[in-house]
Amino acid sequence: MTERTAETGRRCLAVVLAAGLGSRMKSAHPKVLHNLAGRSMLAHVLATLAEAGVDDVVVVIGPDHESMPREIAAISPHARIAIQHERLGTAHAVLAARDSLAQGYDDLLVVFADTPLIRAETFLAMRSALAEMNIAALVLGFEAQEPSGYGRLLMDGDRLIAIREERDANDEERAVTFCNGGLMALAGDRALPLLEKIGKANEQGEYYLTDIVAVARAEGQDIGVLMVPEEEVMGVNDRIQLARAENVLQRRLRDQAMRAGVTLIDPDSVTLSFDTRFGRDVVIDPFVIFGPGVSIGESVRIKGFSHLEQTEVGPRAIIGPFARLRPGAELEGDVHIGNFVEVKNAKVKAGAKINHLTYIGDADIGAGTNIGAGTITCNYDGFGKFRTEIGAGAFIGSHTALVAPVKIGDGAYVGTGSVITQDVSEDALALARGRQVEKPGWAKTFRDKHIK
Ligand code: UD1
Ligand code: MG
Repeated sequence: MTERTAETGRRCLAVVLAAGLGSRMKSAHPKVLHNLAGRSMLAHVLATLAEAGVDDVVVVIGPDHESMPREIAAISPHARIAIQHERLGTAHAVLAARDSLAQGYDDLLVVFADTPLIRAETFLAMRSALAEMNIAALVLGFEAQEPSGYGRLLMDGDRLIAIREERDANDEERAVTFCNGGLMALAGDRALPLLEKIGKANEQGEYYLTDIVAVARAEGQDIGVLMVPEEEVMGVNDRIQLARAENVLQRRLRDQAMRAGVTLIDPDSVTLSFDTRFGRDVVIDPFVIFGPGVSIGESVRIKGFSHLEQTEVGPRAIIGPFARLRPGAELEGDVHIGNFVEVKNAKVKAGAKINHLTYIGDADIGAGTNIGAGTITCNYDGFGKFRTEIGAGAFIGSHTALVAPVKIGDGAYVGTGSVITQDVSEDALALARGRQVEKPGWAKTFRDKHIK
């Protein structure tokens, strides 16, 4: 990734704006920590910047954003954090990172954490255009289907004259559909003086980053526009836009999976995470949900309505329908997990079968072992969690309760309906249930007494 920097020889700082209130989300949490495809919008943007090989990152957050530094450190441990103490607009937010801006970078990328669909290629294209055109700044333009809420790009032929925020636009300006994507590339050696000249004479009384255009133009400096698809610069300001962004991201992830050799029978009904990994020839039925941290081996079949998160599935396994694989489920090759089976924090060795109505939690299941319908590992006593260890080639009869901690030896049988509280040795049969009693003729006598 850093080769990309070496190619151009230009050093780049990204300033990620994340201090906004996000009031249109109507949420107790910062807007940019809302999730898309299994991670926050902010995390998406930081990961894309890393992919684009930027040298340094500074994230501008609000003074009350206590949960933000942890999220930032998890994705970009070297990112700096700047606090915008008062929310006075996007230009003001950029200036909160003044110390970093003054460190002599060639390129500055101003990035919005609420614009998570931007691609690394676009960051690279912005930087190339900035370098080639010798301009003060480069903005992203797009033709908006629904321009309301976006700043409008006011052009004079090919030249960008100003960006007008919707609240400040007159009717004629409002009719313009050529809009501002928000993100910008700024020439590192010219940005600070321009940013400092931005005023707040607008309807909101805020320092608008978009005014850098008019300020630069007044000084005879040019600003470039790079056209991008609307989809990439879609801003997320409310939950409707959040759902739209999720949709776009899901489509990208599904296309990527299919290109890599996965069959999705009904792609639109499958939900993926940013990090879902697949081997070749995986087949996924409709309505399957992948939370974060899932890795699926080659030729696995996942049947409908299954839910997987933080799980590894080995090659040729068959999962579902209606299976639930929770964090820490590690399945080796050729394992079968059937309907209404839940597996959590458990290692299931090659070829084991758990086919019906079962809970396997905090357990080890040996190779080739068969777990009968309705088996439950009783792993929790209200305070601690305990492990169930089952050897290879064992057979657990249906409707068995395994009260952990407990061990079942290799090749052992457990009789149907047992409540197993003690270890079972290898190759033994354990029965732990009431013996059947038969009273001949009892039912008839009982009936005759009642039916006169
Ligand atoms: C902004 C642009 C608009 C563009 C749109 C694209 C400005 C003035 N307007 O509008 O032209 O069409 O994005 O999506 O730039 N933020 C701070 N501190 C602040 C204010 C905002 O950090 O004081 C951050 C927010 O967290 C957000 C980003 O800056 O990540 C953009 O702010 P937002 O309020 O969403 O701007 P828009 O109204 O969407
Ligand atoms: Mg926005």
